Amino acid sequence: MSAEFSCAPGPQAPCDLDRLDDKLERMQALWQQYGDCYRVASESRRADTFVINHPDWVRRVLVSNHRNYTKGVGIERVRVLLGNGLMASEGDYWRRQRRMLQSGFHKPRIERFFPAYFEEAVRLAERWLSCARRGEVVNISESLSETTLLAVLRALFSEDLAMLQQRLGANPFQVVTRDSRRDLQFAVKFRALGKLVQEVVDLRRRESRFPPDLLSHCMLARDKSEGEAMPDRQLIDEVLTLIVAGHETTAASLSWTWYLLSRHPAVCEALTAEARSCAMHTVPDWRVLESMEYIPQLIKESLRLYPPGWLYTRRALDEDNFGKYKLPAGSDVFICSYLLHRHPTYWDRPERFMPERFSSENELSRHRFAYIPFSAGPRHCIGESFAMSEMMIHLAVLARHVRPEPVTGPQVEPEAAVNLRPRRALHLRFKPVE
Ligand code: HEM
Repeated sequence: MSAEFSCAPGPQAPCDLDRLDDKLERMQALWQQYGDCYRVASESRRADTFVINHPDWVRRVLVSNHRNYTKGVGIERVRVLLGNGLMASEGDYWRRQRRMLQSGFHKPRIERFFPAYFEEAVRLAERWLSCARRGEVVNISESLSETTLLAVLRALFSEDLAMLQQRLGANPFQVVTRDSRRDLQFAVKFRALGKLVQEVVDLRRRESRFPPDLLSHCMLARDKSEGEAMPDRQLIDEVLTLIVAGHETTAASLSWTWYLLSRHPAVCEALTAEARSCAMHTVPDWRVLESMEYIPQLIKESLRLYPPGWLYTRRALDEDNFGKYKLPAGSDVFICSYLLHRHPTYWDRPERFMPERFSSENELSRHRFAYIPFSAGPRHCIGESFAMSEMMIHLAVLARHVRPEPVTGPQVEPEAAVNLRPRRALHLRFKPVE
């Protein structure tokens, strides 16, 4: 190693961080001990893991030198569930798929899904309001998982979802919310849903019917250079990826948001005030969403404290360096957005819930890469606008009808598994908004 570089500090004992049940707590303790770049030798691999918590190095891995990195540990498990869809694919294959899917997520296209977001929010508001009137406790984890699943299914299948539901007597995709395990058994059950997706694809082709939804987008997309459609196997992987990626993260994020609202009545007041002042009696358009100031700040702050995608894993193809620390080829790199979002150098009173941090003036003065709930660079979340608009509509509709009560009982504990979500189902009581 040349004299200008040194070896990153770290514990002597080897350990596979990704296999620990308490990996978030362990990473937090090691960060406090060793700083913004530390190295942990692996027990099962010959390469070391480098954990970085500095926005300049985050930019290097995700943006400026992204070609040097592939997705890292854990991606094999994701592939068992999602096949070679956008989340798990790599290289030229990923680039081609991303190009084909990208325009389906542009803002004007997403606006077509606003009626689905709006109707699901109205339906949920009615349910929560009647629980509020009866003084009943609501299992919000369950409600939010169902409502976000329906939003993404309607965006994918539009009228064919009702057709499937009618034929099979129930929503066949419900397994995704009913079964919270993400193991091999679940993967087998989930992959079997691919057959239903294929049925819908075949039906649409027979009828030459292509409603303006995400499934039609995938069916009609053509590769720019070859002019070819994606093969059906790939199409199914993409659809299954969008179902999982598009609902679990949004459900987790809304759970955390309602939890935070239940503990911060003043924030709740401000939310209700904005919800009442914007034109939400009917399906909104982007103009209405863009007129909201407080609701996006509130969502961003919730995503700061509890980013559902809390850990990004990458593997270096070639050597690299983080400041004075050398990174050998083949090393694993972990970026923990949960810890980055609470770094005291970049955040004032990081543990406090303060939506106003995201006012436009405050946003200007912050390091761009200290906040990455949707990741950054070419592999950033393709569904960011989808998720933000869905959550804004959800909150604006529900806050006109109900207000959460403070929760009593034990503190809600985060579970840092594939996503960061409350360890146990979250229950809240609501009051009708007068
Ligand atoms: C609050 C909601 C959401 C959050 C916090 C979130 C977060 C993320 C993050 C952090 C990544 C990058 C993961 C990595 O680099 O390792 C990602 C990728 C992805 N997300 Fe999201 N996501 C959300 C909603 C959605 C929605 C609604 C969809 C689709 C309907 C979606 C589809 C995807 C896909 C397909 C990828 C892979 C993109 C690629 O690699 O090209 N996400 N998301």
